[in-house]
Amino acid sequence: MKDVREVVKEFYTDAAEAPKEALCCPTAYAKEDIAHIPEEVLKRAYGCGSPVASASIKEGEVVLDLGSGSGIDCFIAAKKVGKSGRVIGVDMTDKMIELAQGYLEKVAENLGYRNVEFRKGFLEEIPLEDESVDVVISNCVINLSSDKERVLKEVYRVLKHRGRFCIADIVSEKDVPQSVRDNPTLWGECIGGAIKEEDFIDIARRVGAYGLNIKSRLFYREVEGVRFNSVVITGYKFIKGKECVYKGHYAIYNGPFRSVHDDDGHEYPAGVPVEICTDTLEKLTSPPYEGLFTIITADGETVVRGCVDEGGGSCC
Ligand SMILES: C[S@@+](CC[C@H](N)C(=O)[O-])C[C@H]1O[C@@H](n2cnc3c(N)ncnc32)[C@H](O)[C@@H]1O
Repeated sequence: MKDVREVVKEFYTDAAEAPKEALCCPTAYAKEDIAHIPEEVLKRAYGCGSPVASASIKEGEVVLDLGSGSGIDCFIAAKKVGKSGRVIGVDMTDKMIELAQGYLEKVAENLGYRNVEFRKGFLEEIPLEDESVDVVISNCVINLSSDKERVLKEVYRVLKHRGRFCIADIVSEKDVPQSVRDNPTLWGECIGGAIKEEDFIDIARRVGAYGLNIKSRLFYREVEGVRFNSVVITGYKFIKGKECVYKGHYAIYNGPFRSVHDDDGHEYPAGVPVEICTDTLEKLTSPPYEGLFTIITADGETVVRGCVDEGGGSCC
């Protein structure tokens, strides 16, 4: 097959010009999330999930949408982050960028404020500063890249400390045959470039993400005997503190499992106090672990839910 990026660009230039019905999995969006979005954008939604709905986006956050296409998820996020937040969509296909930019004014008028921008760029070289984003979302795009590790490294680079990603993508249950990989139409349809779910998770771990969680897994298509699913995966970034020290803080895992391990290899048998360092204290008292542990801090304070940080302030 010729250069993957060229194949994908050609495919999505066509998909920007004329809507391709039933491309990727049709996604159901909540009415109130899309009421402010023009019909021409909605008709060109080519996602396979709703990462923007699963990312717990809060007011004031900076959201990056990778492979933003017609802009649907950016425009939904624009409402969620409100006036004080920012949304950046990145896409490499000129026609998609032009299409999305063409609706910026209309969406701003409907919302009463403007907080979205679209940048032309590659997933593999995200045109953003290090540690500048609270949430990265992406809807049915990473499968289209021939270098998924580079994409996830970039996602990790641009996330702030304790930032998160929420990615909807197509993954396979088995290795994808070469005949499928070499088929440009299947590549454009998010099948040819898909990798196994476990391989996706391995890459995310390798780039440094922790707290990985499959939020949903739905059957999409079967091609040449391989089943392809649409999954929504979340993960977090944590920059280890310069001084991860033991100061007498303890964590007690609340169950229901008999025992669990975290990404750093610590084991927590249910009901047993385990001494934790300051970094682990920060991790266990914030998403995605918040509420799973009872924390007894060095000063004797007990916290079941909510956050504790060394400065004594809220860290959520
Ligand atoms: C399946 S569409 C999804 C669009 C959008 N996320 C949605 O839900 O409608 C994939 C989009 O990703 C873009 N894309 C694919 N590979 C890319 C890459 N390597 N760098 C930047 N954009 C890419 C395509 O141009 C296309 O607009």
